[in-house]
Amino acid sequence: MKDTIRHLIQQALSRLVAEGVLPEGLSPVIQVENTKDKSNGDFASNIAMMLAKPAGMKPRDLAEKLVAALPADDGISKVDIAGPGFLNFFQNSDALAQRLEAALADSQLGVRKTGAQQRVVVDLSAPNLAKEMHVGHLRSTIIGDGVARVLEFLGDEVIRQNHVGDWGTQFGMLLAFMQEQPVDSDAELADLEGFYRAAKKRFDESPEFADRARELVVQLQAGDAECLRLWHRFNDISLSHCQALYDRLGVKLSMADVKGESAYNDDLANVVADLRAKGLLSESDGAQCVFMDEFKNAEGNPLPLIVQKAGGGYLYATTDLAATRYRANVLKADRALYFVDQRQALHFQMVFAAARLAGFVPASMQLEHMGFGTMNGADGRPFKTRDGGTVKLVDLINEAEERAYSLVKERNEQRAERGETPFDEAELREIGRVVGIASVKYADLSKHRTSDYSFNFELMLSFEGNTAPYLLYAYTRVASVFRKLGKDVAEIGGQITLVTEQEQALAGKLAQFADVLGGIADKGTPHLLCAYLYDLAGLFSSFYENCPILSVEDEAVRNSRLRLAALTGRTLKQGLELLGLETLERM
Ligand code: ARG
Repeated sequence: MKDTIRHLIQQALSRLVAEGVLPEGLSPVIQVENTKDKSNGDFASNIAMMLAKPAGMKPRDLAEKLVAALPADDGISKVDIAGPGFLNFFQNSDALAQRLEAALADSQLGVRKTGAQQRVVVDLSAPNLAKEMHVGHLRSTIIGDGVARVLEFLGDEVIRQNHVGDWGTQFGMLLAFMQEQPVDSDAELADLEGFYRAAKKRFDESPEFADRARELVVQLQAGDAECLRLWHRFNDISLSHCQALYDRLGVKLSMADVKGESAYNDDLANVVADLRAKGLLSESDGAQCVFMDEFKNAEGNPLPLIVQKAGGGYLYATTDLAATRYRANVLKADRALYFVDQRQALHFQMVFAAARLAGFVPASMQLEHMGFGTMNGADGRPFKTRDGGTVKLVDLINEAEERAYSLVKERNEQRAERGETPFDEAELREIGRVVGIASVKYADLSKHRTSDYSFNFELMLSFEGNTAPYLLYAYTRVASVFRKLGKDVAEIGGQITLVTEQEQALAGKLAQFADVLGGIADKGTPHLLCAYLYDLAGLFSSFYENCPILSVEDEAVRNSRLRLAALTGRTLKQGLELLGLETLERM
């Protein structure tokens, strides 16, 4: 609906330009928001206030001209002017009900992308294979997965790229250690974290070991067969650990999506040569650097983007430059989104700017760093184990499932006391698994991407507030309506008619689903979907309490409410699935 209103305003603006009321050459960003108070209509725009100055008019006068110039639309029953000059749009209930009927009849819930379909690279997860996946990579994995799912749902072609760290100096250390203590079976590498620590210890203790490690990195990067064999063996095991976590987390990533740093090895010399040929390289302390005017340090001195070390080695930036070119030329992406820690913001700004200067990507290709904040512990300090180590993701997931299981077990006893059939042990385990995983993911997804947040099991497992258990439970309430009825929505006739205040409010929210997804596709912010689903569940709750469904006498009213409930259920389920969450029919 917001898109429709934006379009209507655009038409009114063009008309006013043609009439000479507005000057030519204005290209305002037309903002349309949902109103908080329904007495102000359903949507509002501040366009008259934005354009009053360039138009040389009072905002309210311009607002009047705009309203007069707005084309009629079936979806809008009236437009009011409020306060300093807001345009308030009121939705037409009949048109709204018809839209919801169309959504109910459509497997896509009426959601279609408004702009052109794009090919989008989503760079996500990207753990460093030398170590076990730890909590730091949870965010890049699940936020990236959520956004990728939304883009796909809207009709974009998504190419997932797991740019794993598989080529750094740490590998020399690991290879040296593998040579020293031959690893006979994969099982001996089961504890990657322990293996890494032991290797690191040797590295720090013994200068000869450290020298050997450095030597091995050079040999590895030069393509030595034995080094490559060990390296492959190590990486395969490390990647299989990651894959096991993706599967448990319900993240849509497979081995086929892995395109690690090492994959660009053969192109790194070319990247440097091409930068040189374009006249973009300067030498600084023996290193090859790109200096760009817009990047200065705090003292105002130029900041280098180093692409080759004095010793000849390549860096993270070189690999990323090679990756931009691959994504443009081979993958033919229109857009590439990088879900990487906010602390790497400068790295990406510089890489993107250099890639553009060098012509590695076409001007039309969008490169966007979707940075995210740090996950802290409940105390607001960096998240650590009791002895100060990094928290392994697998431990965190195990604990989440265990805690969720205890919780549902407790609730199960109350079920029995209420005379409802309790769940058996296997069911409790399954509910615990779904709720545990969903809680960890949802807690992360529901925070604004760029803010830091505190990881807190108690809060995320609460059945109240904007949490996974609350939403999963809300979904089961809808499911239970249809279970009691013993019918599917397809067997229910009639149509949606919006009469009560609660029906209107719920319907208005349901109609916003497409707009919310559009916002996530633009901004890479799944928390918008969480906030939306939370509001939707709240509105369903007031509808459920105030508008009897199954017990209402009038068949037309009952059918309308059932249809509204069915659409709510499907929207909740679809929304949760786009966030990468499983739903339960009972819990
Ligand atoms: N492995 C890197 C890290 O853990 C993230 C890589 C992100 N993607 C990229 N194209 N640089 O910090």
